Amino acid sequence: MNLPAHKVTTANLGAAYPFMMSPSLDCGGVYIGRDLLGGSFTYDPFELYKQGVISNTNMIIFGQIGRGKSSFVKSYLWRQSVFGRQAWVLDPKGEYDLLAKYWGVIPLKIYPSGPIRLNPLEDFGSYAHVGGSHTASAHTAGSHTGGSEAKEEYVRRCVELLVALGSACLNRSLLPTENAASQLAFEQARQSNLHRQITIPDVVEALLNPTHESARKINTDREELAHMGRDLGLELRRLVVGDLKGMFDGPSSEGIDLSAPLVIIDLSRLYESHALGALMTCCLGWLNALLSVPSATKRFIVIDEAWAILRNLSISRWLQSSWKLSRSRGVSNIAVLHRTSDLRSAGSMDSEQVSLASGLLSDSETKVIYSQPQSELENTKQLLGVSSTEAELLPNLRKGTGLWKVGRQSFLVEHRLGPAEYPMIDTDQRLR
Ligand SMILES: Nc1ncnc2c1ncn2[C@@H]1O[C@H](COP(=O)(O)OP(=O)(O)OP(=O)(O)O)[C@@H](O)[C@H]1O
Ligand SMILES: [Mg+2]
Repeated sequence: MNLPAHKVTTANLGAAYPFMMSPSLDCGGVYIGRDLLGGSFTYDPFELYKQGVISNTNMIIFGQIGRGKSSFVKSYLWRQSVFGRQAWVLDPKGEYDLLAKYWGVIPLKIYPSGPIRLNPLEDFGSYAHVGGSHTASAHTAGSHTGGSEAKEEYVRRCVELLVALGSACLNRSLLPTENAASQLAFEQARQSNLHRQITIPDVVEALLNPTHESARKINTDREELAHMGRDLGLELRRLVVGDLKGMFDGPSSEGIDLSAPLVIIDLSRLYESHALGALMTCCLGWLNALLSVPSATKRFIVIDEAWAILRNLSISRWLQSSWKLSRSRGVSNIAVLHRTSDLRSAGSMDSEQVSLASGLLSDSETKVIYSQPQSELENTKQLLGVSSTEAELLPNLRKGTGLWKVGRQSFLVEHRLGPAEYPMIDTDQRLR
């Protein structure tokens, strides 16, 4: 047979052989490992954003258990620190201790009635000087004017957080009446405590005992408003006097060094708790408050085991709105998940869940996909825009090797660890 030569455009070829046709990223940044199709792979979201390769700096990492997701994150943060970047890590399993040791910092271990309290409603702009508590906030307070725009932003941030937190505690979306009650309660708490930081107990008090003035704002009476906010108030009260007290129910503890290159919030004592999602939301609320203080430092915010919060629709919504601010705040958010179905919160996949999942994904232009089971491939193709050629590779990827989707480009990367980095990432010690 004498067949004619088959001609295709480079675009067609790129679809069939995505890795062969991808030009390298060539962005500098930190070394990640070996590009399995040749050369080294380096990555820096801030550089790539500057070059217009990606339009946001957020990253989502997927991978089955034990495939090297956290190891990648740890060594990545370690390498990024060379460039003066700061990292804040939410660690629900307590596995960043070794990294903390390398860095010479002490993780903030959060547990009921423990030594550390964080105030998710903290206003770092206006009141940082009042407690004089935090090294960095006291230092940066002067640069934050606390004007009316900043105050509005503060109120908006707190009310959004209370709605997400309330919904996580009640395990359902808030009713319109509860949304209104939480907003009025926050306003009341502010009015009654003009010269100090507002805390969750202040909001609980206002929810359970609203004033005539609050009720008048929505043309109702005190009894009716108290009724509207009662379920929410009682659930949030768990953080104040119940089984979850002593973590988020007062001003933040003194002496937390917020200027440290690495801040780890360790929630491992509560890993099995049903309230893990709500507690992670409180921690993220506090980190968000910190971000409202302008800073020239580029930061990474890592949410390991992020499935714990993404299974709640209101928290996902809240998280997405804070991820949208990443560019203006000089932040790269990193969420670590097991499967793409983690994004499809618990329960049925209604249209809002679909749009939230795809919204969060389009706000994360870097996706790193470690090995996925066969049963997840269809989901992965649909949600992550992975081609059939790429999807076929996923079940067979070895530990530490991931498919990187950066903007429109794909890479197969073997994450490499230096000998000095091994002790910092080894979570298998006890198993061995
Ligand atoms: N790039 C790598 N090269 C060699 N070994 C690795 C690599 N990445 C991880 N490992 C080994 O695999 C172990 C598990 O890795 P890691 O804890 O990062 O998995 P994980 O994906 O975060 O798991 P989980 O889903 O349980 O949190 C590590 O303790 C380490 O020994
Ligand atoms: Mg892990």
